[in-house]
Amino acid sequence: MTGGSATTQASKIGVVGAGYVGLTTAACLAHLGHQVVCADVDTERVDRLRRGEIPIVEEGLAEIVAATLANGTLTFEVGAARAAVDADVVFLCVPTPQGPDGGADLRYIEGAAAEIADALRPGALVVNKSTVPVGSTRAVEDVLHRPDVAVVSNPEFLREGTAVGDFLHPDRVVIGADDRAAGERLADVYAPLNASVLITDPASAETIKYAANGFLAMKVSFVNAIAAMCEAVGANVDDVVEGIGSDQRIGRSFLKPGPGWGGSCFPKDSKALVKLAADYGYDFTMMKGVIDVNDEQRRRMVGKVRTALGAGPGGGLRGALVAVLGLTFKAGTDDLRDSPSLTMVRSLLASGATVRAFDPTVGDRADGAKAVTLEGIELVGDPFRAARGARVLVIATEWPEFAKLDLAAIASTMADDAVIVDTRNLLDPAAVRAAGLGYDGVGRP
Ligand code: UDX
Ligand code: UDX
Repeated sequence: MTGGSATTQASKIGVVGAGYVGLTTAACLAHLGHQVVCADVDTERVDRLRRGEIPIVEEGLAEIVAATLANGTLTFEVGAARAAVDADVVFLCVPTPQGPDGGADLRYIEGAAAEIADALRPGALVVNKSTVPVGSTRAVEDVLHRPDVAVVSNPEFLREGTAVGDFLHPDRVVIGADDRAAGERLADVYAPLNASVLITDPASAETIKYAANGFLAMKVSFVNAIAAMCEAVGANVDDVVEGIGSDQRIGRSFLKPGPGWGGSCFPKDSKALVKLAADYGYDFTMMKGVIDVNDEQRRRMVGKVRTALGAGPGGGLRGALVAVLGLTFKAGTDDLRDSPSLTMVRSLLASGATVRAFDPTVGDRADGAKAVTLEGIELVGDPFRAARGARVLVIATEWPEFAKLDLAAIASTMADDAVIVDTRNLLDPAAVRAAGLGYDGVGRP
């Protein structure tokens, strides 16, 4: 690990893909003083970005994009080749969705590499920032077929909702390069961050990404399994987490019990890790267990709602009205990808229940009104309208505003004998009960 140096040469940088990772990367590198061209295939997205409109909810991103558009260090283009022309360094930040066999689908990465191959100037550096299986650096080299261009791996560790902060204040920068000099050239680009930089080989860097996400997913699955045990033995998970989290070898982070992990990364990366290991002859039973516990956790949440409705495990829920607060996979983002909330809601709808939901980021139409439905879910404009007449209210995403709900007002608008199922342990159980509502959290008495 080496520390960065403040002074650095501004580079001409291309970024292919203006999604959560690409847009954050492009804007932050421009913010550090580099000259950045960010390209995307989606012309409508590029048009909006040129107007400074940010197509995702991400704290602080709009301000950085506005400032770097204004000072000319950031521009947007359509098509990967436009980002590569004249660039010293080109970052690939295109999707690596899950393939039918659980592995990562590399078609967009290979497509983007093919698109930039002829546009790259001699001596340019191509950087794989997308999450890709071991060996993908080589795969990109093969597609580029440019012996005068180096390809390195540089996995991202950005969390949605805090991506800008995570980029500008990373715990570490990981670089995987066969050619040490190429690795150091990329380290130079990050020098203004003064962060610790690990330069290793591509296979290790690619493995670090999956291992990091696998470990974090394991921690969350572990605490959810412990929460299930707490419910069985009558213990309180809040105190258990305090008791284990205060051990520095364990740490408190990523020990929040909940409805199971979701999002665009943990689900696909955990499966890709199992597939990758199997491809090389290792049966990653532990990671399979982490995934199984997560699937089970999502089912347990549906079970809690059924119990609160007084319905048995398999019975129909026709006529039952359930209010759901939060649809995104976590707070701080508008991302619905593999959201535990949607998994739960789909199961309730499939059993005939009526679901009325509120999420601060979902359904906002251009005309300011709320879209009426999403996948059969009735969307409303605030938590009280969601709760009106409902027998069960589910806290599904940990948006901070839900922790400040006026519980007496919620109780007065819900049906009799109403229950709050708090899948995020966001509320104070005593306060909920004092408001005349039933309460069921995750691993709490
Ligand atoms: C993506 C990957 O999904 C993830 O595995 C990787 O670690 C980082 O990049 P994310 O930024 O969240 O994550 O993806 P997404 O928000 O879907 O954005 C991808 C962008 O790439 C989209 O704007 C899409 O239009 C664009 N794209 C896609 C291209 O520009 N070219 C393509 O060939 C495909
Ligand atoms: C994750 C990794 O954290 C990040 O480093 C990587 O680059 C991309 O994948 P992200 O998908 O944005 O980031 O979400 P994260 O904040 O890690 O949460 C993942 C899931 O775990 C969410 O569904 C979240 O609600 C859940 N979670 C997280 C818990 O249930 N409990 C916790 O204590 C932490």
